[in-house]
Amino acid sequence: MKRKVTVVGGAGNVGATVARSIAEKELADVVIIDIADQKAAGVALDMYETCPILGSDSRIIGGSDWGAAAGSDIVVITSGKPRKPGMSRDDLVKDNFAIMQSIAPNVVQYCPNAIIIPVANPLDAMAQALFRLTKFPRERVIGMAGVLDSARMSTFIAMELNVSVENVHSFVLGGHGDTMVPLPRYSTVAGVPITELLSKEKIDAIATRTANGGAEITKLVGTSAWYAPGQAAAEMCEAILRDKKKILPCSVFLQGEYGIRDLFVGVPVKLGARGMEGIIEIKLTAEEDAALKKSAASVKELVDVIGM
Ligand code: 2OP
Repeated sequence: MKRKVTVVGGAGNVGATVARSIAEKELADVVIIDIADQKAAGVALDMYETCPILGSDSRIIGGSDWGAAAGSDIVVITSGKPRKPGMSRDDLVKDNFAIMQSIAPNVVQYCPNAIIIPVANPLDAMAQALFRLTKFPRERVIGMAGVLDSARMSTFIAMELNVSVENVHSFVLGGHGDTMVPLPRYSTVAGVPITELLSKEKIDAIATRTANGGAEITKLVGTSAWYAPGQAAAEMCEAILRDKKKILPCSVFLQGEYGIRDLFVGVPVKLGARGMEGIIEIKLTAEEDAALKKSAASVKELVDVIGM
Protein backbone atom coordinates (compact mmCIF):
# COMPACT_ATOMS: atom_id res chain seq x y z
CA MET A 1 0.00 0.00 0.00
CA LYS A 2 1.19 3.47 -0.84
CA ARG A 3 2.33 5.49 2.14
CA LYS A 4 1.10 9.04 2.69
CA VAL A 5 2.93 12.09 3.95
CA THR A 6 1.09 15.31 4.66
CA VAL A 7 3.05 18.53 4.63
CA VAL A 8 1.27 21.29 6.51
CA GLY A 9 2.31 24.71 5.28
CA GLY A 10 3.40 22.87 2.18
CA ALA A 11 2.82 25.79 -0.18
CA GLY A 12 5.68 27.61 1.53
CA ASN A 13 9.33 27.20 0.69
CA VAL A 14 10.31 24.68 3.36
CA GLY A 15 7.17 22.60 2.96
CA ALA A 16 7.46 22.51 -0.82
CA THR A 17 11.07 21.38 -0.53
CA VAL A 18 10.05 18.49 1.74
CA ALA A 19 7.17 17.54 -0.55
CA ARG A 20 9.31 17.60 -3.66
CA SER A 21 12.06 15.52 -2.12
CA ILE A 22 9.57 12.86 -1.02
CA ALA A 23 7.99 12.74 -4.47
CA GLU A 24 11.37 12.67 -6.19
CA LYS A 25 12.35 9.57 -4.23
CA GLU A 26 8.87 8.10 -4.65
CA LEU A 27 8.71 7.55 -0.90
CA ALA A 28 4.99 8.24 -0.57
CA ASP A 29 2.00 10.11 -1.90
CA VAL A 30 2.07 13.69 -0.71
CA VAL A 31 -0.73 15.93 0.54
CA ILE A 32 0.07 19.60 0.74
CA ILE A 33 -2.14 21.40 3.24
CA ASP A 34 -1.98 25.16 3.43
CA ILE A 35 -4.33 27.98 4.39
CA ALA A 36 -3.31 29.42 1.03
CA ASP A 37 -5.41 26.69 -0.57
CA GLN A 38 -5.21 27.80 -4.17
CA LYS A 39 -1.46 28.15 -3.97
CA ALA A 40 -1.26 24.70 -2.35
CA ALA A 41 -3.26 23.23 -5.23
CA GLY A 42 -1.01 24.95 -7.75
CA VAL A 43 2.26 24.00 -6.08
CA ALA A 44 1.05 20.39 -5.80
CA LEU A 45 0.01 20.26 -9.45
CA ASP A 46 3.29 21.79 -10.62
CA MET A 47 5.14 19.22 -8.56
CA TYR A 48 2.93 16.38 -9.81
CA GLU A 49 3.81 17.43 -13.35
CA THR A 50 7.50 16.84 -12.60
CA CYS A 51 6.78 13.19 -11.81
CA PRO A 52 6.69 11.92 -15.41
CA ILE A 53 10.12 13.49 -15.88
CA LEU A 54 11.40 12.07 -12.62
CA GLY A 55 9.83 8.69 -13.22
CA SER A 56 8.00 8.87 -9.90
CA ASP A 57 4.51 7.55 -9.28
CA SER A 58 3.99 9.57 -6.13
CA ARG A 59 0.67 11.39 -6.33
CA ILE A 60 0.62 14.94 -5.03
CA ILE A 61 -2.43 16.97 -4.17
CA GLY A 62 -2.85 20.28 -2.40
CA GLY A 63 -5.52 22.40 -0.74
CA SER A 64 -6.84 23.27 2.68
CA ASP A 65 -9.07 20.23 3.16
CA TRP A 66 -7.76 18.04 5.96
CA GLY A 67 -9.93 15.17 4.71
CA ALA A 68 -7.26 14.54 2.08
CA ALA A 69 -4.69 14.06 4.84
CA ALA A 70 -6.69 11.29 6.53
CA GLY A 71 -4.64 8.28 7.47
CA SER A 72 -1.25 9.88 6.81
CA ASP A 73 1.80 7.98 8.02
CA ILE A 74 3.71 11.21 8.65
CA VAL A 75 2.63 14.82 9.12
CA VAL A 76 5.42 17.34 8.62
CA ILE A 77 4.51 20.73 10.07
CA THR A 78 6.28 23.58 8.38
CA SER A 79 3.61 26.25 8.96
CA GLY A 80 4.66 29.31 10.81
CA LYS A 81 6.02 32.75 10.33
CA PRO A 82 9.51 32.74 8.89
CA ARG A 83 12.36 34.73 10.33
CA LYS A 84 13.18 38.16 9.02
CA PRO A 85 16.70 39.55 9.13
CA GLY A 86 17.69 40.44 12.70
CA MET A 87 15.03 38.20 14.25
CA SER A 88 16.06 35.23 16.34
CA ARG A 89 14.19 31.94 16.06
CA ASP A 90 12.85 32.68 19.54
CA ASP A 91 11.14 35.91 18.49
CA LEU A 92 8.53 33.79 16.77
CA VAL A 93 7.36 31.85 19.80
CA LYS A 94 3.91 33.31 20.48
CA ASP A 95 2.78 33.72 16.87
CA ASN A 96 3.85 30.25 15.86
CA PHE A 97 2.39 28.69 19.01
CA ALA A 98 -1.02 30.06 17.97
CA ILE A 99 -0.54 28.39 14.57
CA MET A 100 0.35 25.07 16.25
CA GLN A 101 -2.83 25.38 18.33
CA SER A 102 -4.87 25.63 15.14
CA ILE A 103 -3.15 22.64 13.50
CA ALA A 104 -2.99 20.14 16.37
CA PRO A 105 -6.73 19.29 16.51
CA ASN A 106 -6.71 18.48 12.79
CA VAL A 107 -3.75 16.14 13.19
CA VAL A 108 -5.52 14.39 16.06
CA GLN A 109 -8.79 14.11 14.13
CA TYR A 110 -7.50 13.09 10.71
CA CYS A 111 -4.12 11.50 11.34
CA PRO A 112 -4.35 9.90 14.79
CA ASN A 113 -1.65 7.32 14.04
CA ALA A 114 0.78 9.61 12.26
CA ILE A 115 4.30 10.48 13.24
CA ILE A 116 4.61 14.26 13.53
CA ILE A 117 7.73 16.03 12.38
CA PRO A 118 7.62 19.63 13.62
CA VAL A 119 9.77 22.03 11.63
CA ALA A 120 8.41 25.46 12.70
CA ASN A 121 10.49 27.67 14.97
CA PRO A 122 11.42 28.00 17.71
CA LEU A 123 11.75 24.33 16.96
CA ASP A 124 12.04 22.63 20.31
CA ALA A 125 9.27 24.72 21.89
CA MET A 126 6.94 24.10 18.93
CA ALA A 127 7.67 20.37 19.11
CA GLN A 128 6.83 20.44 22.81
CA ALA A 129 3.62 22.35 22.04
CA LEU A 130 2.53 19.78 19.45
CA PHE A 131 3.39 16.93 21.81
CA ARG A 132 1.29 18.43 24.61
CA LEU A 133 -1.57 19.53 22.34
CA THR A 134 -1.94 16.22 20.48
CA LYS A 135 -1.08 14.01 23.47
CA PHE A 136 0.68 11.67 21.03
CA PRO A 137 3.28 9.34 22.57
CA ARG A 138 6.77 10.79 22.55
CA GLU A 139 7.90 8.22 19.97
CA ARG A 140 5.65 9.95 17.43
CA VAL A 141 6.66 13.60 17.81
CA ILE A 142 10.16 14.16 16.46
CA GLY A 143 11.44 17.66 15.81
CA MET A 144 13.66 18.46 12.84
CA ALA A 145 16.72 20.44 13.88
CA GLY A 146 19.86 18.42 14.40
CA VAL A 147 19.84 16.97 10.89
CA LEU A 148 19.90 20.52 9.55
CA ASP A 149 22.44 21.80 12.05
CA SER A 150 24.80 18.90 11.49
CA ALA A 151 24.43 19.22 7.70
CA ARG A 152 25.51 22.82 8.05
CA MET A 153 28.46 21.85 10.21
CA SER A 154 29.45 19.14 7.73
CA THR A 155 29.32 21.64 4.89
CA PHE A 156 31.68 23.98 6.71
CA ILE A 157 34.07 21.16 7.63
CA ALA A 158 34.14 19.89 4.03
CA MET A 159 34.78 23.45 2.79
CA GLU A 160 37.60 23.95 5.28
CA LEU A 161 39.36 20.63 4.60
CA ASN A 162 38.48 20.44 0.90
CA VAL A 163 37.11 16.92 1.23
CA SER A 164 33.94 15.23 0.05
CA VAL A 165 30.91 15.96 2.21
CA GLU A 166 30.36 12.21 2.10
CA ASN A 167 33.43 11.76 4.29
CA VAL A 168 32.15 14.15 6.94
CA HIS A 169 29.96 13.19 9.85
CA SER A 170 28.99 15.97 12.25
CA PHE A 171 27.43 15.84 15.63
CA VAL A 172 25.26 18.61 17.09
CA LEU A 173 23.25 18.37 20.29
CA GLY A 174 20.91 20.72 22.14
CA GLY A 175 18.16 23.12 21.20
CA HIS A 176 17.86 24.55 17.71
CA GLY A 177 18.95 28.00 18.79
CA ASP A 178 22.04 30.07 19.38
CA THR A 179 22.96 27.77 22.27
CA MET A 180 23.11 24.57 20.19
CA VAL A 181 26.07 22.36 21.02
CA PRO A 182 28.30 21.24 18.12
CA LEU A 183 30.49 18.38 19.37
CA PRO A 184 33.89 18.42 17.61
CA ARG A 185 35.11 15.28 19.42
CA TYR A 186 32.39 13.26 17.74
CA SER A 187 32.57 15.05 14.39
CA THR A 188 34.71 13.11 11.98
CA VAL A 189 36.22 13.04 8.52
CA ALA A 190 36.57 9.46 7.25
CA GLY A 191 36.35 8.37 10.89
CA VAL A 192 39.02 10.79 12.15
CA PRO A 193 37.81 13.33 14.74
CA ILE A 194 38.15 16.90 13.47
CA THR A 195 40.05 17.70 16.67
CA GLU A 196 42.96 15.82 15.01
CA LEU A 197 42.62 17.70 11.74
CA LEU A 198 41.84 21.32 12.55
CA SER A 199 43.11 23.93 14.99
CA LYS A 200 40.97 24.98 17.94
CA GLU A 201 40.45 28.39 16.31
CA LYS A 202 39.17 26.81 13.10
CA ILE A 203 36.88 24.44 15.02
CA ASP A 204 35.51 27.29 17.12
CA ALA A 205 34.81 29.29 13.98
CA ILE A 206 32.97 26.32 12.41
CA ALA A 207 30.93 25.80 15.60
CA THR A 208 29.95 29.48 15.71
CA ARG A 209 29.05 29.53 12.03
CA THR A 210 26.93 26.40 12.54
CA ALA A 211 25.02 27.93 15.45
CA ASN A 212 24.42 31.06 13.35
CA GLY A 213 23.73 29.07 10.18
CA GLY A 214 20.06 30.01 9.96
CA ALA A 215 20.75 33.70 10.59
CA GLU A 216 23.47 33.70 7.93
CA ILE A 217 21.00 32.57 5.27
CA THR A 218 18.23 34.86 6.56
CA LYS A 219 20.55 37.83 6.25
CA LEU A 220 21.52 36.91 2.69
CA VAL A 221 18.10 35.92 1.38
CA GLY A 222 15.80 38.12 3.47
CA THR A 223 13.79 35.20 4.86
CA SER A 224 14.41 31.79 6.45
CA ALA A 225 16.38 29.08 4.71
CA TRP A 226 14.42 26.36 2.94
CA TYR A 227 16.54 23.97 0.87
CA ALA A 228 18.54 22.53 3.76
CA PRO A 229 15.67 22.56 6.31
CA GLY A 230 13.35 20.90 3.78
CA GLN A 231 15.91 18.28 2.79
CA ALA A 232 16.60 17.54 6.46
CA ALA A 233 12.92 16.87 7.16
CA ALA A 234 12.77 14.66 4.06
CA GLU A 235 15.71 12.61 5.31
CA MET A 236 13.81 11.98 8.54
CA CYS A 237 10.72 10.92 6.54
CA GLU A 238 12.82 8.52 4.50
CA ALA A 239 14.37 6.94 7.61
CA ILE A 240 10.86 6.36 9.00
CA LEU A 241 9.15 5.24 5.80
CA ARG A 242 11.95 2.83 4.90
CA ASP A 243 12.28 1.68 8.53
CA LYS A 244 16.00 2.33 8.26
CA LYS A 245 16.82 2.46 12.00
CA LYS A 246 18.97 5.43 11.11
CA ILE A 247 20.63 7.39 13.87
CA LEU A 248 20.02 11.09 13.40
CA PRO A 249 20.06 14.04 15.77
CA CYS A 250 16.45 15.08 16.42
CA SER A 251 14.53 17.00 19.05
CA VAL A 252 12.62 14.59 21.26
CA PHE A 253 10.90 14.67 24.63
CA LEU A 254 13.56 13.66 27.13
CA GLN A 255 12.59 11.85 30.28
CA GLY A 256 15.80 11.75 32.21
CA GLU A 257 18.14 11.00 29.30
CA TYR A 258 21.19 13.26 29.43
CA GLY A 259 19.92 14.36 32.86
CA ILE A 260 17.07 16.34 31.24
CA ARG A 261 13.42 15.72 31.98
CA ASP A 262 10.12 16.72 30.37
CA LEU A 263 11.67 18.82 27.65
CA PHE A 264 12.30 18.60 23.90
CA VAL A 265 16.02 18.86 23.22
CA GLY A 266 18.14 17.62 20.32
CA VAL A 267 19.92 14.28 20.90
CA PRO A 268 20.87 11.33 18.68
CA VAL A 269 17.89 9.06 18.14
CA LYS A 270 17.14 5.95 16.13
CA LEU A 271 14.47 6.56 13.49
CA GLY A 272 12.42 3.70 12.11
CA ALA A 273 8.87 2.69 11.26
CA ARG A 274 7.70 3.32 14.81
CA GLY A 275 9.20 6.80 14.86
CA MET A 276 11.72 7.48 17.58
CA GLU A 277 12.81 3.94 18.45
CA GLY A 278 15.57 4.80 20.87
CA ILE A 279 17.71 7.56 22.30
CA ILE A 280 21.45 7.12 22.07
CA GLU A 281 23.22 8.42 25.14
CA ILE A 282 26.86 9.27 24.71
CA LYS A 283 29.37 10.29 27.35
CA LEU A 284 29.89 14.03 27.54
CA THR A 285 32.75 15.92 29.12
CA ALA A 286 31.84 18.31 31.95
CA GLU A 287 32.14 21.22 29.53
CA GLU A 288 29.91 19.60 26.88
CA ASP A 289 27.38 18.62 29.53
CA ALA A 290 27.27 22.20 30.85
CA ALA A 291 26.71 23.52 27.31
CA LEU A 292 23.87 21.03 26.78
CA LYS A 293 22.25 21.99 30.08
CA LYS A 294 22.53 25.68 29.15
CA SER A 295 20.88 24.96 25.80
CA ALA A 296 18.11 22.99 27.53
CA ALA A 297 17.56 25.91 29.93
CA SER A 298 16.99 28.25 27.01
CA VAL A 299 14.44 25.83 25.51
CA LYS A 300 12.75 25.67 28.93
CA GLU A 301 12.41 29.47 29.03
CA LEU A 302 10.47 29.42 25.76
CA VAL A 303 8.37 26.47 26.77
CA ASP A 304 7.43 28.41 29.92
CA VAL A 305 6.40 31.43 27.83
CA ILE A 306 3.75 29.30 26.10
CA GLY A 307 2.91 27.29 29.23
CA MET A 308 3.61 23.93 27.61
C1 2OP B 1 17.18 27.54 10.04
O1 2OP B 1 18.01 27.27 10.89
C2 2OP B 1 14.84 28.11 9.61
O2 2OP B 1 15.58 27.45 11.75
C3 2OP B 1 15.76 27.32 10.40
O3 2OP B 1 17.47 27.92 8.92
